[in-house]
Amino acid sequence: MSGEIGRQKFREVMGNFATGVAVVTGGDPRGNPLGFTANAVTSVSLDPLLVLVAVDRDSTSLPALLESGSFALSFLRARDRGLALRFARSERDARFQGLALREDVTGAPILEQALAWVDCSIWKSVEAGDHLVVFGEVAGCGTQGHEDPLIFFQGRYGTISP
Ligand SMILES: Cc1cc2nc3c(=O)[nH]c(=O)nc-3n(C[C@H](O)[C@H](O)[C@H](O)COP(=O)(O)O)c2cc1C
Repeated sequence: MSGEIGRQKFREVMGNFATGVAVVTGGDPRGNPLGFTANAVTSVSLDPLLVLVAVDRDSTSLPALLESGSFALSFLRARDRGLALRFARSERDARFQGLALREDVTGAPILEQALAWVDCSIWKSVEAGDHLVVFGEVAGCGTQGHEDPLIFFQGRYGTISP
């Protein structure tokens, strides 16, 4: 059924659903930070507090993230679109260069310059086609300042002012 539509058209259509942009972070077994850009992120439940991120099964960060049992979401500010590119494209080792990090409850790294953040323990993960939907139970969260958000829409970055 979905074969008749095609990936390109599906991506184009879904690109009309404007989203924020997050960096998903965690730690590998040696304690090194790992992270990647994601917009397939949403809040799911209030009881318990749950979020989800849909992660490509080809993600090189995914195995370590699952093994660590936790992850954090850092929501990007409009002026940090460079970080969205960096965490999508650069070598994994270069992604955190020069960035101030901190931890909350689980130990997953949080970007100091994020607009807001959510710290999670992995609650469950569900296979969904070529992605794995990873649910996080919220262990901590907060906002930091009042800046405009980075928005992803029709394959481009932008912002909105509330
Ligand atoms: C705006 C944007 C949104 C993205 N959203 C997701 C996403 O929701 N899930 C995902 O697995 N990859 C997403 N990606 C792609 C990953 O960031 C990219 O494949 C990254 O290199 C994966 O890193 P890793 O191999 O270290 O896990 C997105 C990229 C961009 C630029």
